[in-house]
Amino acid sequence: MRLVILEDYDLASEWAAKYIRNRIVQARPSADRYFTLGLPTGSTPLGCYKKLIEYYKNGDISFKYVKTFNMDEYVGLPRDHPESYHSYMWNNFFKHIDINPANAHILDGNAADLQKECDTFEQKIADAGGIDLFVGGIGPDGHIAFNEPGSSLVSRTRVKTLAQDTILANARFFGNDLSKVPTMTLTVGVGTVMDAREVMILITGAHKAFALYKAIEEGVNHMWTVSAFQQHPRTIFVCDEDATLELRVKTVKYFKEFGAFDRLKSWEWNLL
Ligand code: GLP
Repeated sequence: MRLVILEDYDLASEWAAKYIRNRIVQARPSADRYFTLGLPTGSTPLGCYKKLIEYYKNGDISFKYVKTFNMDEYVGLPRDHPESYHSYMWNNFFKHIDINPANAHILDGNAADLQKECDTFEQKIADAGGIDLFVGGIGPDGHIAFNEPGSSLVSRTRVKTLAQDTILANARFFGNDLSKVPTMTLTVGVGTVMDAREVMILITGAHKAFALYKAIEEGVNHMWTVSAFQQHPRTIFVCDEDATLELRVKTVKYFKEFGAFDRLKSWEWNLL
């Protein structure tokens, strides 16, 4: 596991975007070998998407040979609703880059057979050769995608009922009206994300500090589903200073020193 600590949200977003850019450039994707990227929604990744758009506009990166798979979508919210994850992804990212819309996969929360939709999504990921880099975000209760506390750590894409905490956290996107927040979602499972070759989880803000502590300093526990990634061979947690407030000084110090050393050593970091 790597914990990358940046001073603030903007720097954390920039670091994450550069990491994604470097991974794609390094992979030299082509018509024969696409790069597959798992993507999150929420307010956290917005800064990272903005930077990626900037890199695309500068000519530093192309998404022509990139396939994306989004983590989750609300059930029953019309696709063109401003808060659907379809709208979010198109407005905040896809419409600004050169991705082929056919390669941008988002679960359909209005499918007639929801479980079939989830199974097909898993099959599409498998057909794409698996996910190279899954970028994720978490809720303050440590859920990854919509894998609420108590979710199986080997779960696959499925229908999920939202926890009250998540409904409360997401009410801000629905005019703070709890009755407008969908209560059901389709979400990739913890196992789906665990299968990715590499995972990068973005955690920023003091309100996520306890979740980050649970994610990395305590044991693997299905009540904090993000903690499962302790058992993934290549996980990077990218966070800002505020998110580290509940960590031990020793942990923060170790990873900051590691970062400084790494910056000198690794070509990837030298590109930053
Ligand atoms: C929702 C999404 C998660 C996301 C989380 C955090 O619960 N399903 O995938 O990570 O929100 O959102 P934010 O970044 O706005 O805190």
